Amino acid sequence: MNYQEAADKLKLYNQEHVLAYYDRLSDSEKEELLSQIADTDFSVLATCLSKEEKEGRGVISPLAAMQLSEIEEKKDAFTETGLAAIRAGKVGAVLLAGGMGTRLGSDDPKGMYNIGLTKDVYIFQRLIENLMDVVKAAGCMIPLYIMTSDKNHEATTGFLKEHNYFGYDSDYITFFMQEMAPASDYNGKVYMEEMYKMSTSPNGNGGWYSSMYKWGVAQKAMADGVEWLNVFAVDNVLQRIADPCFVGAVIGKGCACGSKVVRKCAPDEKVGVMCLEDGRPSIIEYYELTDELMNAKDENGDPAYYFGVILNYLFKVADLEKIREKNLPLHIVEKKIPYLNAAGEKEKPEEPNGYKFEQLVLDMIHELDSCLPYEVVREKEFAPIKNKTGVDSVESARILCEKNGIVL
Ligand code: UTP
Repeated sequence: MNYQEAADKLKLYNQEHVLAYYDRLSDSEKEELLSQIADTDFSVLATCLSKEEKEGRGVISPLAAMQLSEIEEKKDAFTETGLAAIRAGKVGAVLLAGGMGTRLGSDDPKGMYNIGLTKDVYIFQRLIENLMDVVKAAGCMIPLYIMTSDKNHEATTGFLKEHNYFGYDSDYITFFMQEMAPASDYNGKVYMEEMYKMSTSPNGNGGWYSSMYKWGVAQKAMADGVEWLNVFAVDNVLQRIADPCFVGAVIGKGCACGSKVVRKCAPDEKVGVMCLEDGRPSIIEYYELTDELMNAKDENGDPAYYFGVILNYLFKVADLEKIREKNLPLHIVEKKIPYLNAAGEKEKPEEPNGYKFEQLVLDMIHELDSCLPYEVVREKEFAPIKNKTGVDSVESARILCEKNGIVL
């Protein structure tokens, strides 16, 4: 893309300020900026201006979860089905590690965080150890796909290599990178990070499958016979990955996907809950739960919207293929975005100063025909690390790890 083409594209989206420093750039910087302009989808920026006009939700009704008692009863059969699928090479695991982890406040990728007390125990290490439990039970390797972003790819791949992938056979690990989206001020004007570079942010975890496809990694997985992908977040250090019982339950129910869920600890707990929306599986965010929904009861007289998602989903690849080209809704998130001020100096704001634009994996669920909410014991499988202290923190996760016999 040449200067004029870039200027025309920017004009179309009211972003002419991006070229304000152009005359002060070296030739290579000019080239870098022009190619970033060519690659950027500026249309997302306009969405923040029409924020209030967003459509409401459809008709919400309960979606029954498979609860612990039923799982316990059918555990052996489910586990056998799950292990058979794993041994046949039909199950892969996808680690979503492209996020910025800003709440934790570390400059490194979140997986590099060391939660150990008497020895090193990195978050990545905990996840790989959890997956290894299943590798041992199944007696075969499980392909592990790791999504990174432009902001943390090198640090992540370098760190895992340096630690010899915490004992995981690297032939079974494949990395791919997610897309980036421009980050803007409250008026939808993209910020500049450098005179030759616009501010960008990873585009959320909802684009994982299309990025996996863009990198050719999904096609390779399908060619290798992978039929199910267990997608999981980087920050839950207790989660079971490629859990044979979960895999077996979803296969047995004939669902397009499954979602691990925990019973909420209070009606107003801040987690998204599973439901049906216009008859299709969906997740309703805690801030969208009205009092009426919060107090609603199902046919057994139990709270109807009481199973919170923990970002551990099993997807059937054939069904992911059907929705690969679908546009998921954009979520606008307020964020602290470093930027260049009018004098061209770098500023690092203390308070949020604009928006980033994200697609979320939970919106994929609504595109699919069926989803099995599968209950897990919270204290055994849910120790997310979002913050340093307080709720969902390094502190709370350490306590839960110790309760589960993990030496830190
Ligand atoms: P979070 O919602 O915790 O976001 O991500 P985050 O960016 O990591 O953290 P904060 O909000 O800045 O503190 C949930 C999961 O989705 C992944 C994260 O790495 C984590 O596993 N994720 C999030 C991505 O892979 N890409 C993204 O763009 C965002």
